[in-house]
Order: sequence, then C-alpha cells, then structure tokens
Amino acid sequence: MRCLITGGAGFLGSHLAETLLVHGHEVVVVDDLFRGKKKNLDDCKGSPGFFYVKGDACKLEDLEKGVEALGDVDLIFHLAAINGTLWFHERADSVVEVNINATIAALKLAERHAARLVFTSSPEAFGEVDEQPMGIGGDSLFDNPSLHQRHSYGASKYLGEILVQHAVRSKDIDCRVVRPFNAYGPRCPGNDYGQVVSIFLEKTKVGRPLTVHGDGSQTRSFSWVGDIVEGIMLAGTTDNSLTDGESLAGYTWNMGWPEETTIADLAQMVRDVTGVDTGMVMTKGYPGDSARRIPDISDAEAELGWRPLTNLADGLERTWNYLNRDNVRKK
Ligand SMILES: NC(=O)c1ccc[n+]([C@@H]2O[C@H](COP(=O)([O-])OP(=O)(O)OC[C@H]3O[C@@H](n4cnc5c(N)ncnc54)[C@H](O)[C@@H]3O)[C@@H](O)[C@H]2O)c1
Repeated sequence: MRCLITGGAGFLGSHLAETLLVHGHEVVVVDDLFRGKKKNLDDCKGSPGFFYVKGDACKLEDLEKGVEALGDVDLIFHLAAINGTLWFHERADSVVEVNINATIAALKLAERHAARLVFTSSPEAFGEVDEQPMGIGGDSLFDNPSLHQRHSYGASKYLGEILVQHAVRSKDIDCRVVRPFNAYGPRCPGNDYGQVVSIFLEKTKVGRPLTVHGDGSQTRSFSWVGDIVEGIMLAGTTDNSLTDGESLAGYTWNMGWPEETTIADLAQMVRDVTGVDTGMVMTKGYPGDSARRIPDISDAEAELGWRPLTNLADGLERTWNYLNRDNVRKK
C-alpha cells in the first residue's frame, strides 16, 4: 500500500515507517521536525519506496506534496501532534492549534484521495477517570481549565476522535482510532519534554537522580514500541474485523501492555536493569496527572489479532542497550 505518515520523523512514526517498509509498503513521511528528527529516519533512507517531505501537517498543500511523492495514497497514518507533558502546560495554545488543525487537514486529505486513515489518539482523551482497566467506550472527565491546562492535549485527542467519527458517519471515510498507552523504546525523547522511561534511563546514564512526581504511586501501562507499532500497522492494513468480517470504519482500539506499574516500581526496575543507583528525588509534579492507567485490550486482540509480546524488564534492557550503543556511536 502507499502510506503517508504525518509526524513520521518522531518516535512512533519513525518505527512505523521502518515496519511498513519491511512489510513491502511504500512510505512518505511528512514532518516539520518540531520534535521529530531527520536522523530517526536514517534506516529508512536507503529503501526505494521511501520518501520524506519537510512540511506542516496542518497545511493540506504540504500533505499533498507527500501524496505527489508517492503518486497517490491508500493509507494515512495520522501521528503529527505536539506531544510531551511539559508542552501541555507550557504551550497549551499550540497543542490545541496543531493537534486539531492537523487532524482536520489529514481527514480532508483522506476524503480527497478516498484513502483509509488511522488516527493516533491517547488514553489522555479520557482525562482523569477512575475506572480501570480503561475500556474503549468510557466517558471522559476533564478538570476545570482555570486549574491547569494539562488537558489541552487530552481534549485535543478527544476532539480528534469526534472529527474522525464525524468523517466516518457523514463522509463515509474509512477511519480507525488507536490509543497507545505509554510507549517507550529507542528514540523516545528523554529530555524534560520527554517520557518517563527515557527520562529515567537517560538520567541514569549521566549519573543524575531519578525525579519522581508525587509519591510515585501513580501507575502506567508501559508498552514496548515494537508492539505498539505492530498494532498501529495492523489497525491500518487489516481490511475487516477478524471476529465478524465487518468493516472496521469507526473502530477504536486500546493498545498497551495489560499490566500496570507504579512510577516508584519503574524507578526500581531501572536500577535493577542498569545496575546503577543514582538515587531518587521526590517532586510535586504536574497537576492533572492521572492516578492509574491500564488498558483493556480485548477488542484489539479479537478484531485485529494483536497482542503485545515484550514485558517491561525486557523492553527496559533493550532500551538501555540502545542508549549505550548510541553513546558509543556518537563518540
Ligand atoms: N508515545 C506514546 O506513548 C503515545 C501515546 C498515546 C498517543 N500518542 C500519539 O502518537 C503520535 C506519535 O507520538 P510520538 O510519541 O511518536 O510523539 P513525537 O512527538 O515523537 O511525534 C510526533 C511528530 O509530529 C511532528 N509534528 C508536530 N507538529 C507537526 C506539524 N505541525 N506538522 C508536521 N509534523 C508535526 C513532530 O515533529 C514529531 O515528529 C502522537 O499523535 C501522539 O499524541 C503517543
């Protein structure tokens, strides 16, 4: 298939591009490098069916340049978004602007070219719900915006899902939604704007203490990037539901490791896997952080035949090895 990935120079997008190429698909990445990096695509560059366009996913004309590179497009993976918790607080305005406008543009592109579209939403689209594991049909609960603006991101994903479902019903576009749960692995950013697994591993590498928000009792489902990317690919390449053969237009899937880990336990696992103890600092953290997050993945298992295979200890070890290999290469 001819695949266009918005945000394909980022963490998940670059792994998705590699995986699609391995499966014989053609791929064009459209990314403005807000957080993505061209070097994330180094392993794709040699492939004959790979193209890269530096462009703004909010602009239909930039997305069309990607389509021109491919000749046409069959499948759009819409990943472009401003992601990273610190951004949600510091630049709530940009988070809302980019995440909504890029989704509108991607849906227009899908309509124009009669392409299938996969939208990467997030468990953050639920806000701060108590009910766990999270099913696919629960309600969303957001704090009052005068308290904090963390939910700029979650609410933008919620509205993204609204736009997607509207496109399915009113415009007959074959769109699907995936909600990845805390993916980690090589290329996941480990700076202040990054994600906790990479932050912990990178701090360990440079001998700095691990910063734990609150009392560290909040939980997440930490999911190996290879598993998540396999799931995103299947969400796009599977024609019909494996359960009843029905069209998958409008379907949503949670994708994540189906066990929860507290942040304090994650810190301990990082110490165990790396064999290095740099200490721990407890901080207040950001407001609006959800207390627990664990996915119910039964729909993805039944309808797509997807199941994650890599447990957290193995994934941490692989990521640690990658960080150290990367370090050696840079020297
Ligand atoms: N990583 C996770 O655990 C996770 C969980 C849930 C949802 N998601 C969603 O999956 C997608 C990919 O996430 P990621 O972790 O790879 O994040 P990422 O930040 O690494 O990737 C997003 C990419 O979008 C690009 N981008 C931002 N604004 C753009 C614009 N206007 N035009 C073109 N490109 C633009 C960035 O440069 C970046 O390369 C995002 O939509 C994110 O919200 C990720």
